[in-house]
Amino acid sequence: MRRVLCAAALAACFTASANSQQSDFAQRPDGHPPSVGPLGDMMISILDRHAVLWMAGVSNNWPLAEYEARQLQTRLMDAAQIYRNIPVETVSAATKALDELTNAITTKNKAQFAPRFLHLTRTCNACHVSAGVGFVVIETPRTSPFTNQSFAPAPR
Ligand code: HEC
Repeated sequence: MRRVLCAAALAACFTASANSQQSDFAQRPDGHPPSVGPLGDMMISILDRHAVLWMAGVSNNWPLAEYEARQLQTRLMDAAQIYRNIPVETVSAATKALDELTNAITTKNKAQFAPRFLHLTRTCNACHVSAGVGFVVIETPRTSPFTNQSFAPAPR
């Protein structure tokens, strides 16, 4: 019965087992630190954040854009841990492009947002070419892939 309940409410079971290990936070049941997932899965997460970042910027939602830029930076760093045979310049070109975009966001520079976003997107594709996956072509989102998130700035 306990096993059935666990299958039905996995998250609750994880919380329960974490509590029994005297922690306020959920942890992996085996106690190991979190590990990064397969690179392809991380890239799908990067793809989503790339889209949300665009939607936030064109909606003048600067706090969301800044938040997403940070999330993207973290994901790119995580991914860098598992790159194999990828020239280091392609990695630093992407993080530099993201830094420049972040700068446009923090200064609320709408005029710079789109060109810097485009530059970031080009660095995604440049890395894909050098990594032998040039068939993965990223572009500026035409519309939001998410129908369940509002990008309008939150009312104060
Ligand atoms: C430094 C190199 C590098 C950068 C920068 C990079 N990628 Fe990737 N990306 C890869 C590699 C390598 C793969 C192939 C992963 C695999 O085969 O497991 C990949 C695969 C992908 C995929 C396909 C995932 C799948 O499984 O279908 C997407 C989508 C993607 N990247 C999005 C992006 C976006 C968006 C950016 C920029 C914000 C980006 N990538 C920047 C190296 C990079």
